[in-house]
Amino acid sequence: MKYAQITGWGKCLPPANINNDEISTIVETNDEWITTRTGIKNRRVSHVSTAELATLAAKRALACAGIEGKELDLVLLATCTPSTMVANTASLVQKNLGAVGAAACDTNAACSGFLYALQLATAQIRAGLIKKAVVIAAERMTWYVNWAKRDSAVLFGDGAGAVVLEASDTPSGLLASKIGCDSEDRNILHIANYGTDQDKYIATGPSDLLFEGREIFKRAVKGMSEACDDVLSQANLQLDDINVLVPHQANLRIIQAIQQRLQIADDKVMVNIDQYGNTSAATIAIALCEAVEKGLITPNANIMSAAFGAGLTWAASYIKW
Ligand code: ACO
Repeated sequence: MKYAQITGWGKCLPPANINNDEISTIVETNDEWITTRTGIKNRRVSHVSTAELATLAAKRALACAGIEGKELDLVLLATCTPSTMVANTASLVQKNLGAVGAAACDTNAACSGFLYALQLATAQIRAGLIKKAVVIAAERMTWYVNWAKRDSAVLFGDGAGAVVLEASDTPSGLLASKIGCDSEDRNILHIANYGTDQDKYIATGPSDLLFEGREIFKRAVKGMSEACDDVLSQANLQLDDINVLVPHQANLRIIQAIQQRLQIADDKVMVNIDQYGNTSAATIAIALCEAVEKGLITPNANIMSAAFGAGLTWAASYIKW
């Protein structure tokens, strides 16, 4: 059986930045509140579409892998902020990449989307159904943000990250994975007035990201920590075997709480929430790229990654680089 080796990676962060002082001129907030509650200092705001962010990240990942778009069998895009619903956004990215004939589809598991997509693409390669895939996570979260509401306006940003997977005999790539969803309380984090149910919500006006922050905080810490435990036992590994933790970047205090539960040292944890805020599915894809750039991830590194998001979805992965 083949493995799905990660042979390329790339990211795209739009250049426009809004820092905490600037956002304080739009809503009633301040740098001290945002920094101490979330760890966020800056967020990027895109003036181009999710498809364009995804295309740039994917092109960089393909260049890094040294392959061309036409070699791809699959373009899988994790996003909850698609440019278009029909046709799917992945089909436009496929066109932009020249990945003629490759399968192309979007997958939406909100903030857990990249790890969901990584498992789906890896499974296809390991089953021998395809040989080469690009897995992209791209989000334009600021499109959903109601800039009049300080609770959500300060949290989110835009960006994209991508990895190329290729069938290989080398035991690497995603080697253990756990994905799931607790749908019972799916309403504690949702956008009420998008999709074909919007007639029920029309009175609420433009998009509204509604969430119960404290409840999500607790569940995210528990969900991600337990998923990491599951994946470690699936891979027959101890925490000491892990070189790097790449967690979803929703709140610095959530990351620190997971770190504390798992007893992982600071220098093993990839954190960039101060720069980009919560880019939903894209946080882990971007953080993986930056961990490589920083030298935190080196060849053969054992990486643990975990995410939690709307659904309520959760995911954890063990990746051999
Ligand atoms: N600036 C200043 N004050 C604010 C702001 C703001 N931007 N936002 C809220 N407040 C006020 C509230 O109005 C409230 O005031 P009150 O006490 O007078 O009513 C006070 O701050 C405390 O609000 P809390 O919601 O209790 O603050 P908390 O410490 O829980 O932090 C936060 C809120 C940052 C959202 C936190 O709960 C959190 O990070 N939760 C998990 C992440 C999350 O929910 N992300 C969005 C979903 S996406 C995901 O990735 C899972």
